[in-house]
Amino acid sequence: MTTIPQEKVLDNSIRLLLEGFPFIQNRVERFNSNIFKTRILFQNVICLHGEEAAKIFYDPDKFMRLGAIPNRIQNTLMGKDAIQTLDGAAHLHRKAMFMSLMTPDSLHQINRLMSQQWQRYIKKWEQMEQVVLFEEVQDLLCRVACAWTGVPLKEKEVRKRAQDFTAMVDAFGAVGPRHMRGRKARKRAEKWIEKVIQQIRKGDLEVPDGSPAHVMAFHRDHDDNLLDKHMAAVELINLLRPIVAIATYITFGALAMHDHPVAQRKIADDEENYVEWFVQEVRRFYPFGPFLGNRVKNDFSWGGHDFKKGTLVFLDIYGTLHDPNIWEHPHEFYPYRFKHWKGSPFDLIPQGGGDHFSGHRCAGEWVTIEAMKVSMVYLAKHMTYEVPQQDLSYSLVRMPTRPKSNFIITNVKANE
Ligand code: HEM
Repeated sequence: MTTIPQEKVLDNSIRLLLEGFPFIQNRVERFNSNIFKTRILFQNVICLHGEEAAKIFYDPDKFMRLGAIPNRIQNTLMGKDAIQTLDGAAHLHRKAMFMSLMTPDSLHQINRLMSQQWQRYIKKWEQMEQVVLFEEVQDLLCRVACAWTGVPLKEKEVRKRAQDFTAMVDAFGAVGPRHMRGRKARKRAEKWIEKVIQQIRKGDLEVPDGSPAHVMAFHRDHDDNLLDKHMAAVELINLLRPIVAIATYITFGALAMHDHPVAQRKIADDEENYVEWFVQEVRRFYPFGPFLGNRVKNDFSWGGHDFKKGTLVFLDIYGTLHDPNIWEHPHEFYPYRFKHWKGSPFDLIPQGGGDHFSGHRCAGEWVTIEAMKVSMVYLAKHMTYEVPQQDLSYSLVRMPTRPKSNFIITNVKANE
């Protein structure tokens, strides 16, 4: 057996907060190894990096989610005991329900709703002196998310609900006030959506059969019991919140177009599959999730290293997306790299790796890509705008991150 390189530290949680996204990759380079041990939150953690490691990480015989996601993340980002924490038959059953919503028809609906909202928002922005794109797009996406799922959204609550969904995501790498904002936002959203679930069940609110809100309200778990109203709300929020979170990628997409005007022209000219490659490159290049956690299910060895049952294991997302062994010049924004991409389920992993149906890979990856494609086309082709002087830099320490100015645009005009 080979020994896993190990950091001699009591605890590295503070260093993780200080180094942010590149934390794992920094050590992979220092140890010249795709695997090393450290200590986070006073626990031993094995960190894994790269495509081969991702294949192992998504092997359900080797790993489980039980006890892998800290309460502070469940209480803000995803909700307590949600699908992200399930294993085995319970996970497969819940995941089948989520994936049953991700049909070609759903993607058409998302495409149509996104187009409608972009047209409406461009008109609104024409009347505004300046537009904070990140915030406006959250509202736009919140309307799309509610319309698609069947959740009623009053005009006057759009901003508040969009802010709450954003606060839940904003809390994941935070301590202190940002974390507390995420908790409060989750409590408010759960109360709201529990009421929606109850109304649907009682017949007081009619939503179309087969709409996500209807499916969630009447879903029976693998033991054939109706989800309790809280769990149903948590899972419905697991559709609403991440749709609003696509605002981060859309804002980064706008930044990429601003930095690469040639790319903007290619999108506007509908060049081949360029918009698809561009969207994939945005998801690869710009940081969102830093790493994922699992626990070893049963003792096993891999690559000459022992993995003991119960050990916490992190998979490096950010570093794998910027690994020079996988991506040529990984720190260059270059959409054409996707022209010849082989489509491995284990290298482009901003939304997790492996299989959507049998593993924990993001249920909403196709929705994300569709919503981003529509948005990039609207930004590039159906409107003109100016980008005034502002701080467009983004931190690699803050998790999650985005351009500091939230991307301000002025002089918005619709193109005929
Ligand atoms: C899971 C990222 C958008 C629904 C995940 C995971 C990641 C992720 C990293 C965990 C994968 C794992 O545990 O192995 C993202 C990012 C998004 C996004 C960066 C872009 C904003 C969406 C959308 C939806 C969605 C739009 C729904 C419409 C889910 C669900 C899971 C999940 C239900 C849990 C899957 C499971 O545990 O089996 N996402 N996601 N996500 N995502 Fe997303």
